Amino acid sequence: MSSPERTFGLIGTGGFAREVMPVARGFLRHHPDLGIEPGRIVFVDREGGAPVDGIPVLSEAEFLALDGDRHFTLAVGDGAVRQAIAERLEAFGCHPLSIRADNVLLPDDLDCGPGAVFQPFSMVTADARIGRQFQCNLYSYVAHDCVVGDYVTLAPRVSLNGNVVVEDFVYIGTGAVIRQGTPERPLVLGRGCVIGMGAVVTKDVAPGVTVVGSPARPLEAK
Ligand SMILES: CC(C)(COP(=O)(O)OP(=O)(O)OC[C@H]1O[C@@H](n2cnc3c(N)ncnc32)[C@H](O)[C@@H]1OP(=O)(O)O)[C@@H](O)C(=O)NCCC(=O)NCCS
Repeated sequence: MSSPERTFGLIGTGGFAREVMPVARGFLRHHPDLGIEPGRIVFVDREGGAPVDGIPVLSEAEFLALDGDRHFTLAVGDGAVRQAIAERLEAFGCHPLSIRADNVLLPDDLDCGPGAVFQPFSMVTADARIGRQFQCNLYSYVAHDCVVGDYVTLAPRVSLNGNVVVEDFVYIGTGAVIRQGTPERPLVLGRGCVIGMGAVVTKDVAPGVTVVGSPARPLEAK
């Protein structure tokens, strides 16, 4: 690769990373202001390895050794792992980049932290606030007045209705539906809780608890 260009590294080479790469390439193509040429887009994982889908795979050490600005987006489903990698890369001067698919609907004034991924058909509506390293997978939405913390993950087709507070490190599985709260009494998903795929959450979930079913109940009580 020639220098001194900027490089974009998509962190991860798993199934989700391979889904995100076309979104990242499209986003960078439509944002020439970022100055990242197609030939400077790579996957990054711990060890490096053979190209994936024709795209080079660098080890983290190789990525960190590159000249020029290094931008990165995390395609890793686990919020705690995202935090560890993001903090490490930022300590080496890399810049977290938020990316989104072309057909995503976001407010112009969206308040969202760095490093977010908005996959195709996802959306955020009015006056939601979102923290660092958010992942919003296919067809998921965040409705009005939600407050979403750091390192939160929405699997595909999550319905996060209005006035819900999602604390840091929450994981919400595919197809889960979260009942709306009110401005006076938001529904709260506690720090690090896990919402199982298909759950219908009708009331607050305590920190660290896994809930499943409709209405959602703690897994151990199932
Ligand atoms: C809820 C979840 C985290 C539990 O995982 P786990 O702790 O490994 O639990 P297990 O798979 O051992 O299942 C334990 C029991 O709960 C049941 N169960 C698991 N997930 C369930 C769910 N979402 N709804 C209802 N029951 C569920 C299992 O059938 C099993 O029941 P059994 O004891 O009667 O056999 C997981 O099943 C889940 O829903 N993950 C989200 C997956 C997802 O959305 N992936 C998106 C990829 S992009």
